[in-house]
Amino acid sequence: MAKTTQTSSWMATTLHLICCCLLISNIVAVSRDNFKTCDQSGFCKRHRAVPSGESPYVILMDSLKIQATNVQVQLLNTKNNVRLLLELYGLQENTARLKINELNPIKPRFEIPIGDVLVGEPKQQGIKIIDKNDQSVTFGLENNKVVLTSKPFRVDFFTEGDHVVGVNAQGLLKFEHLRTKPGWFHRVGTGIYSWFSEPFREPKPAEPDNQEKPEGEENKEDDEAEEENKEEEVAAETQDQQSEEPNLWEESFKGFADSKPNGPASVGMDIGFPGFEHVYGIPEHAESLALKSTKDTDPYRLFNLDVFEYELYNPMALYGSVPLMIAHNEKRTVGIYWNNAAETWIDIRSNVADKTFLSKVADLVKGSSDIPQTDTHWFSESGIIDLFIMMGPSPKQVFKQYAILTGTTPLPPLFAIAYHQCRWNYNDQDDVKNVDANMDKFQIPYDVIWLDIEHTDGKRYFTWEKDKFSHPEDMINNVASRGRKMVTIVDPHLKKDDNFGVYADCKNHDLTVKNKDGGEYEGWCWPGSSIWPDFLNPAIRKWWASKFAYDQYKGSTSDLYIWNDMNEPSVFNGPEITFHKDVKHFGGWENRDIHNLYGMYVHHATGEGIKLRSNNEQRPFVLSRAFFAGSQRSGAIWTGDNMGEWSHLKVSNPMILSLNLVGITFSGADIGGFFRNPEPELIARWYQAAAFQPFFRAHAHLDTKRREPYLLDERLMKVSRDAIRTRYTFLPFWYTLYYLGERDGGPLVMPLWVEYPEDKSTFQMDDQYLLGTSILVKPITEAGGIGTTVYFPGQNEIWYDILTQETYKGGASTYINAALEKIPVFQRGGSIIPRKMRIRRSSGLMHNDPFTFVVCLDKKGEAEGDVYVDEYDSFKYKSGKFILKKLTFKDNVFESSAADPSGKLDTKEWIERIVIVGYPHQPKAATLKSGKGTLVSLDTVYDSKTKTVTVRKPGINIADDFTIKLS
Ligand code: NOJ
Repeated sequence: MAKTTQTSSWMATTLHLICCCLLISNIVAVSRDNFKTCDQSGFCKRHRAVPSGESPYVILMDSLKIQATNVQVQLLNTKNNVRLLLELYGLQENTARLKINELNPIKPRFEIPIGDVLVGEPKQQGIKIIDKNDQSVTFGLENNKVVLTSKPFRVDFFTEGDHVVGVNAQGLLKFEHLRTKPGWFHRVGTGIYSWFSEPFREPKPAEPDNQEKPEGEENKEDDEAEEENKEEEVAAETQDQQSEEPNLWEESFKGFADSKPNGPASVGMDIGFPGFEHVYGIPEHAESLALKSTKDTDPYRLFNLDVFEYELYNPMALYGSVPLMIAHNEKRTVGIYWNNAAETWIDIRSNVADKTFLSKVADLVKGSSDIPQTDTHWFSESGIIDLFIMMGPSPKQVFKQYAILTGTTPLPPLFAIAYHQCRWNYNDQDDVKNVDANMDKFQIPYDVIWLDIEHTDGKRYFTWEKDKFSHPEDMINNVASRGRKMVTIVDPHLKKDDNFGVYADCKNHDLTVKNKDGGEYEGWCWPGSSIWPDFLNPAIRKWWASKFAYDQYKGSTSDLYIWNDMNEPSVFNGPEITFHKDVKHFGGWENRDIHNLYGMYVHHATGEGIKLRSNNEQRPFVLSRAFFAGSQRSGAIWTGDNMGEWSHLKVSNPMILSLNLVGITFSGADIGGFFRNPEPELIARWYQAAAFQPFFRAHAHLDTKRREPYLLDERLMKVSRDAIRTRYTFLPFWYTLYYLGERDGGPLVMPLWVEYPEDKSTFQMDDQYLLGTSILVKPITEAGGIGTTVYFPGQNEIWYDILTQETYKGGASTYINAALEKIPVFQRGGSIIPRKMRIRRSSGLMHNDPFTFVVCLDKKGEAEGDVYVDEYDSFKYKSGKFILKKLTFKDNVFESSAADPSGKLDTKEWIERIVIVGYPHQPKAATLKSGKGTLVSLDTVYDSKTKTVTVRKPGINIADDFTIKLS
């Protein structure tokens, strides 16, 4: 036994070395070849080849069934006579749902279980029939109209009279019905059609015939008709199959065979956005925020993959997928959510972007009258069509509509939104101690230090490398004594080693994902030969969660949190570095059906584990690389293995904005870039940018040079330190945003058009963005940058530089000097934000510190904002232990009043100063009036250059309501 263990650990080390060497020497570098192009994917090619304008589908109006909140009707494919069932639901909040499935599939098709992505069964609401004729039927739904047209089939959505979404307007609906594999003697039209197959046949559409038939006759005729049908359909289907590709029943890619036991099962259709030139969303792609036409490229692909050294500005799939697209124009915003977890591709065409040079010239001469239109074409390898149409009409309403469907990001513990120090790897306990000590020595605050895979005993997660981490609890306690936390990595692959308890347990209880033949699916990952728990099974998710109990995960403490990596999942020797598509999951589903959900289930189960270990008292923090719609409910996401290059810093902005638009708000990118040795200036600029992004973590590859911020030269160290310290001063603002985000949904960082929806000049902007509605950020992302042109939105707005208080007029662009020390960040006139200016080693040590409120006045001399406070780590805020205040400044009076009187909290936090920027003169007096009615006179200091009054030491507890009057 000892020998076997030794041998296998030797093999694992060797394998790891080989993998690392391959990675390091770039032998497997993007290797685009590792990943399919559309041409290499059977269903992608088939859908792209569907001719437009020739839809074979018609609605069978006779089958229409109308209920209070939904409509059912059959669709007939006039080419093969297969029928589909269309269901249209009216949902609350200006939302509709359109489901299309086979009327009678030979077996069920995968539908994502309710509760996993959708938070619950969406609440329906009344739809009423407005008009009906042979050709079409029109329904009313709140302020919207939905028109179903029969021949050819299409569905159109109108909101407030505007046509906003057209489904199958181009006739690209293609629904590959499940069928039995054709046998050897598949003859057409003779009735002898197969020895092996009993293909599913739909009866012919019923003739309108009310005449009663003699008993017996009816069945006889039906049987005959059915037989005729069968022959026709077999003929049609066989033609279909012959005219289609040969690889309907198996496919291979780079020598990996995909057995495709169900044959072709893909679904797809076109969805057009009349009147919209810009569409956004469908992450994850290393792409600009406004999506591009795919006329000359592959479609955007959604298929969770571990892409080594990913390329920028192309539609290749990355680690996560959210099939939500948002279309926006000056007048309105709509969203569509494609609720399908299989591999999905999306083509985009735009009548504006795709115009040829000549027609653009012609437009200039003639004056174009074209209405912009974006047409999209979605197709997934299996599952059903389950489309949600969110009709806004404002961006914020679309966010709310989507949040109602898939939930919001729960408020993280405060430490999780502070600064995280990570690298692959901190080598041992002493290394951890040194980094911790150096951060203190250089007065750089940080909250969390992370351990990557090398901390484990041979990549057996939940264990420790005994020589290097002999006393994990002491190590964690030591870090925690300064208010800090630790994170360890726990990947979902389990090393095949019977002496490894978690593996043995998984194997003995038969909890693994299975290969196509029903055996344990085995593949390679960091530990060498590995297996994967079947996270699709709710019982297995519970089992996984139980592994985080303190008595199971030895050496863990309540200050240890978790990182889930490689959960796409990454399988080094699998097709496209992931599972074979024909591996089997719980319920008999293939990975093909559920692929994009796997990582989300891992993330969710881990979060449940953190809750469980603390009897549901601790808010979890779990970082995940893979994600899907709904992952926001499980915590943080990062953009994976980026590179230490300026271009990667630049693309981190649109990538994080795109994630925020689709609800994955708690997201960030590795500071410095994961691969390569970034130049020091880039590291410093990256700290500046990331200080204003939601998840704030530095990370680096095993083979990069050490680059903790204190290792930079003095100037760059200070620049980086200042950025981190600035983040700490803004933590109360971030925390308030996160709280409101959990309550209301919507992005934390957002493109300018979300706040200024009518401002066309912002529609393609993704190098500057808003943090909440009050802070405007334009990070410097160029080497040697000394300044940048910033666009200040809002015709009537004033923007204030957060450091110099210089003012800028809205509705114009201005060049801002930004030498290394400067981050171009501005506060909107009219806003009040809470900050804490006493920076300590960690946010944990700042819980009781006093607040500074920064009030930036608008043109009317007014401002408003919010501040949220709670215990910063427990769930007690859910039962009323919190404070939410509305802050206003109006008519020379600053006021703090309860915005949610249901919250109460005993806290020592108090208000240290109120800084009012844009105030015209030195006030004569400042008088504080608290709830008790006493009047107290306060000191003020006025800076006439920046027009700033500082009201000193109100000294009042944050829980109290009060006013301060300036006179
Ligand atoms: C890949 C992850 O993306 C990276 O962040 C991590 O350091 C390595 N796996 C090793 O765990």
